[in-house]
Amino acid sequence: MLAVIGGTGLTQLSTLEITRREVVRTPYGEPSGALTFGTMCGEPVVFLARHGYGHTIPPHEVNYRANIWALKQAKVSAIVSVASVGGIRADLRPGTLAVPDQIIDYTWGRHSTFFDGADKPVKHVDFTRPYDEALRQRLIMAACEAGEAVFDGGVYAATQGPRLETAAEINRLERDGADLVGMTGMPEAVLARELDMPYAAINVVVNCAAGRASSEHGIHFDSIELVLQEAMVRVRNVLEHICRK
Ligand code: HPA
Repeated sequence: MLAVIGGTGLTQLSTLEITRREVVRTPYGEPSGALTFGTMCGEPVVFLARHGYGHTIPPHEVNYRANIWALKQAKVSAIVSVASVGGIRADLRPGTLAVPDQIIDYTWGRHSTFFDGADKPVKHVDFTRPYDEALRQRLIMAACEAGEAVFDGGVYAATQGPRLETAAEINRLERDGADLVGMTGMPEAVLARELDMPYAAINVVVNCAAGRASSEHGIHFDSIELVLQEAMVRVRNVLEHICRK
């Protein structure tokens, strides 16, 4: 069964025919909300709103371990993350959908592993390719079939938030090789890897990163909202096509 973790702008999947909701308790505390089970295009799907159904949990307070654990115990076979990002590369303009292939993690102080504590084994997962390549390809194929353009690849920089970056920080991220910047990609991706669940992301560029192009003098939230609403229609279209596989 496919899981979709929805971010800002995707607190529910309108095309999901809901069958039940389940509140899951985990050894790591409470997930962001109940798991919403249903079918999309006849296929079973489970949905979880990363920031809670009322969008009240900021990126640094999301219980990523509880979310991923809950999906594992729900016997999820793959996770598609939907998240909004800022575009660092000039050609990644607002409205672009991207399926990144690399991550740089700048977050700190988040619970980023299941393998800690005296009773747990020491384990180092391989994270050379942080996203599952087969699932990335499924996403790209689904987008193609849905007639939605997506940018294939790109380096996602995960920042701590909840504040946005300074222009100098964005320059630094670019020098590091980052193309996209968001606040929730980590530790979500590595936790999925630790539990052996294929994970890939579809990122919606909602603004130019701080100091760039239309964000030269600041990031304006009224325009973000519009871009987000329009782009999420396209994201839902891609998700429906991935389910038809
Ligand atoms: N920076 C970090 N996270 C984001 C941004 C951004 O510019 N836009 C949407 N999420």
